[in-house]
Amino acid sequence: MMFPSRFVWGAASSAYQVEGGAKANGRGSSVWDEFCTRPGAVHQGETGDTACDHYHRFGEDVALMRSVGLEAYRLSTSWPRVLPTGTGKPNPAGLEFYDRLVDALLGAGIEPWITLFHWDMPTDLYRRGGWLNRESADWFAEYAGLMSSRLSDRVVHWMTLNEPQVYIGLGHSDGKHAPGLKLSFPDLLLASHNTLLAHGRGVQALRASAKRKLSIGWAPVGHIVCPATDSAADLTVARSATFTITQRNVWNNTWFGDAVCKGHYPADGLELFGKDVPEIRAGDMETIHQPLEFFGVNIYSGSTVRAGGDGKAVSVAALPGAPTTAFGWPIHPESLYWGPRFLNERYGLPIVITENGMSNIDVPDAEGQVQDPQRIEFTRRYLQQLGKAINDGVKIDGYFHWSIMDNFEWAEGYKQRFGMIHVDFVTQKRTLKDSAHWYREVIETNGGALTPDEGDANGKPVVRTTITTAATATKGGPG
Ligand code: FCB
Repeated sequence: MMFPSRFVWGAASSAYQVEGGAKANGRGSSVWDEFCTRPGAVHQGETGDTACDHYHRFGEDVALMRSVGLEAYRLSTSWPRVLPTGTGKPNPAGLEFYDRLVDALLGAGIEPWITLFHWDMPTDLYRRGGWLNRESADWFAEYAGLMSSRLSDRVVHWMTLNEPQVYIGLGHSDGKHAPGLKLSFPDLLLASHNTLLAHGRGVQALRASAKRKLSIGWAPVGHIVCPATDSAADLTVARSATFTITQRNVWNNTWFGDAVCKGHYPADGLELFGKDVPEIRAGDMETIHQPLEFFGVNIYSGSTVRAGGDGKAVSVAALPGAPTTAFGWPIHPESLYWGPRFLNERYGLPIVITENGMSNIDVPDAEGQVQDPQRIEFTRRYLQQLGKAINDGVKIDGYFHWSIMDNFEWAEGYKQRFGMIHVDFVTQKRTLKDSAHWYREVIETNGGALTPDEGDANGKPVVRTTITTAATATKGGPG
């Protein structure tokens, strides 16, 4: 398995999911702080108030990351920690926290990759309309500029938005994530347009305040449709299904991706959404379409199609007993081959896998070890597919495992464990799982430890037919 010598091996987290310190040193409140207090919103009424207490324990956590051999760590900064009311007066203690975290990472030889928005919009901005207010793009630009002027002397890699499809879809349509809204479809598209404007203005602001040349991307979720075989007909329908909008919702790649990377909304979406598309003012699409250095994408799963007799896509159903994660998400390694390949082809940017991983039932054994062979196997298979894509010429610059440690999994609370480091949420004890030790070897050998899969001897992608139905558009099945 050949990974390029400059391939980046990392792991990821996000502020609200790990930091805790919700009231510490002047942090403001976010929509997630509020949402967690809603009866029934989160599993067992759990909250991110303490989470992994990373805010206080980041030194220990960075040391653990170093022991895993991470080359890079994708974190998000908490908007309300640095700007408690979202705009205006920054919170010095919040900025100092990220100074210290960045310095600790660099001191450990770990490159920080920063996401600006991983879902924690300041409550005060939400009260002013949140993403429904067009000014949200100005607010975000102010925040992006602040972070860039503070950290860009040391931080090169930046991402604007994490999974706009998910916080718009689950947060503003389904009401299952913060802020818990169920907007009309026109309003949903308005919130989407404004968040895309925020992306564009954010990129501009990052660059305008940069102390050196930055590498900027974003991190949408990838909804990947894979071909059942490597026949040309299957490949054509899979590619087209990956990039077609067939439903009046925001669960697709192109409404966001084409706007960001091509500067226009896709024709099929415009037609299907019709008069529900919000006013697009002169200059909006140019603002959204900023040059990017990389296309980050979060891929957990996928679906499979084959070409029917009429050449149209036919969904390939899951075979009985097809594997899923503890969350119930189908295990679909080929999505890490076809996803990067299709996205790189369409948008022409180097791909970075900004998230990939699985939730598992991980329990320390009598000796205190946490054995998670399922996670090792999952990651091995997905990374083998990624390696094949690279061998087939797809430009892929890095991989970030979700997550470095168990954390607050949104509406699921602490039920879903995604980490390579086990966290006991009562004692805050951390334990490296077996997968962390295994990942260290993968990193040390630059992927050499991923033994080749049967069937890839000729360098071709392994195409399995034991694949699954389309993932549903909920946290029960992203990507
Ligand atoms: C993604 C989110 C991330 C985490 C993983 C499991 O959708 O970006 O915060 O919840 O799923």
